[in-house]
Amino acid sequence: LRTKYLSLIAEAQDAAVLEDLRVQAVGKKGEISLQMRELGKMTPEQRQEAGPMLNALKNEINSALAAKKEALEDAVLNERLRTEWLDVTLPSRGRPAGTLHPISQVWEEVTAIFADMGFSVAEGPQIESDWYNFDALNIPGHHPARAEMDTFYTHRAEGDDRPPHVLRTHTSPVQIRSMEANGAPIRVICPGRVYRADYDQTHTPMFHQVEGLALDKNISMANLKWVLEEFVKAFFEVDDVELRFRASHFPFTEPSAEVDIRCSWEGGTLKVGEGDDWLEILGSGMVHPKVIAAGGIDPDVYQGFAFGVGIDRIAMLKYGIPDLRAFFDSDLRWLRHYGFAS
Ligand code: PHE
Repeated sequence: LRTKYLSLIAEAQDAAVLEDLRVQAVGKKGEISLQMRELGKMTPEQRQEAGPMLNALKNEINSALAAKKEALEDAVLNERLRTEWLDVTLPSRGRPAGTLHPISQVWEEVTAIFADMGFSVAEGPQIESDWYNFDALNIPGHHPARAEMDTFYTHRAEGDDRPPHVLRTHTSPVQIRSMEANGAPIRVICPGRVYRADYDQTHTPMFHQVEGLALDKNISMANLKWVLEEFVKAFFEVDDVELRFRASHFPFTEPSAEVDIRCSWEGGTLKVGEGDDWLEILGSGMVHPKVIAAGGIDPDVYQGFAFGVGIDRIAMLKYGIPDLRAFFDSDLRWLRHYGFAS
């Protein structure tokens, strides 16, 4: 019995086998326990001999079990230490932080600047009806501005003669939607995506504008000039700017003006507020009475100004980016180069 259990214990490979052996040998119904129960039936002489012997055997088996148990536990621990080690001196893999896309950053900057001047934000759909994108803005069906805008048209079903929807070519339709939704007086900006079929270094088929609209009972171009000056100063972070209002034409404003800022290009970098160059940054004007009426407001009572700024364009200028298309390439190296990602 002794040799049998000692060798079985020595061979046991894991704790479960060892536990089975314990039950078989010294458990309540184990072989050794059963033999100890026989002691009662023995003569005193026999018992005197067998008793101590069985006790010694039981103790020996118990110690062998305990020693083996410890050895097995040590082996498990050693195996874990061998396989689960961690080299805390290795450099960490790094988790680059995400950043806002430069266009989103400029979008938010522009929104914040106008919010400071009391403008709230309005948005409209990117797929727009012919009415909102054109007619309501005093661009009738035959008007050349429609062709000039390189409009993307959607398709109507065969036999449906209604004019097709368009991908809005500017944010000006949100002027009409804001007038309808809120009436006058009104002070909103409308940032958003716009679309034109055009593609070169300074044009992408999708780009971003922010529209501005202010209507009240005594708004003049002087107010427009102040608002735009404040905006340009805040956006380009300069104390002084000089704006030039150049007579222009938009169907939805009368009079209309394109606005240039005085600047210089020293060694390829733009300096706003000084120099002999002029840089066009936006279109603007006094809202045409027909447009105010199309928005459901009485143009004899209310008048005001509107402007439209290219977000991508002013982002290119501010950050000195020569090719607009790079904004939409999702190239991390490019984003890092300009400090837009880490
Ligand atoms: N909608 C014009 C454009 O996209 C910009 C503009 C807006 C001009 C508002 C005047 C007033 O070119």
